Amino acid sequence: MKSIEQIMRHDHERLDVLLEAGAKAVRKGLWHEAADLLQRFRHGMVDGHMMVEETMLFPAFEAREGNDDLPLTALLRKGHRDLRVFFLEMEEAIGARDAEEYSALLSTVQAILKHHDAKEEKELYPHLAEALSDQGQLAGQTILSRQETAALPGRSQKFDV
Ligand SMILES: [Fe+2]
Ligand SMILES: [Fe+2]
Repeated sequence: MKSIEQIMRHDHERLDVLLEAGAKAVRKGLWHEAADLLQRFRHGMVDGHMMVEETMLFPAFEAREGNDDLPLTALLRKGHRDLRVFFLEMEEAIGARDAEEYSALLSTVQAILKHHDAKEEKELYPHLAEALSDQGQLAGQTILSRQETAALPGRSQKFDV
């Protein structure tokens, strides 16, 4: 069984690939495909990854530190709030077929994510197994089950990530 740290790191990579696949579709002018890929990215990121981090991983880390007002988790939560706004704006840019606007938003989102994910992988994820009473099994299973749903037949098979 993979550790919660491995599962979360892999989920970062999986979501990066989905985001990049959507960007490629925009560059080719394949707007329906771009909309579908962005929707899959947003669902995996917001309803899966961020949800697990905010409801399970951050609270466990805060409890381990004996402090629910940590600068690290406050910064990461703020990053999630900012990213959610950018994801909505990306969706609007796709709806408006505005490749230039989408590309500007994508650069910003990728820059934020690069920093955000690196910080989590360095400062948070290595401590999760110890901070969670089940070593992160439930959180890991939640992430893995979301990944399976995203890969179900009938979804876009070209980007099976
Ligand atoms: Fe995060
Ligand atoms: Fe993350």
